[in-house]
Amino acid sequence: MNTTQQEIVNKTAQFIEDKFQGEGTGHDWHHIYRVWKSAENIAKTEDCDPYIVSLAALLHDIADHKFYDGDLLEGSRQATKLLTDLGADEDTISKVADIVKRVSFKGAKVKDEMPSIEGKVVQDADRLDAIGAIGIARAFAYGGSKHRLLYDPEENYEMHDTFDAYHKNESSTIAHFYEKLLLLKDRMHTNTAKQVAEQRHRVMEDFLQQFYGEWEGKK
Ligand code: ADP
Ligand code: NI
Repeated sequence: MNTTQQEIVNKTAQFIEDKFQGEGTGHDWHHIYRVWKSAENIAKTEDCDPYIVSLAALLHDIADHKFYDGDLLEGSRQATKLLTDLGADEDTISKVADIVKRVSFKGAKVKDEMPSIEGKVVQDADRLDAIGAIGIARAFAYGGSKHRLLYDPEENYEMHDTFDAYHKNESSTIAHFYEKLLLLKDRMHTNTAKQVAEQRHRVMEDFLQQFYGEWEGKK
């Protein structure tokens, strides 16, 4: 990255840090920061443009579809505006905006298409932050914010279209593991992320075994 690019990345980080202050649902600045750093790390092992990776990681949640009534283009619009204001070139803006538009995995039934390697790196980093110890913590933080049960032993975990599930209050947080979190390991694109995901996946499996044991007063 040259110094102008570095400066645009730093200004983007500052803007996002300010914007996400006080977000408590697992979508805070710290999530963005972790995705940014982990995307940078994965990028080192891939043949890709680290400038695009850094900007797309920082901007990937700029406008979450859950808070914009399902308007999937809001994020790329906001990313385009910010990068234009910061003086980024058109090619960069269009690449980053395209990744922002495609980045979130909306559910088991939604086909995910991420053609660019930079987008794959960012998507892997975002998915890694949804699994493992931090993923577990984020899931319960999110569930609490929606007044969900920790667990409902009566529930059956058929795969719903999670775009609808997001807007309903009916499933427990443990259900979210089966609807999404345990599926992410097999959706990683890069080898680096696949390796990290294996280990984080085991952390979730161990957690669930311990959880069910404690639920019955055992363990
Ligand atoms: P991102 O856009 O960062 O990929 P999401 O917006 O899908 O993530 O979700 C933010 C965090 O909240 C993630 O850690 C995710 O696992 C968690 N989350 C999303 N939906 C649910 C749910 N229905 N129950 C529990 N946790 C959820
Ligand atoms: Ni995210």
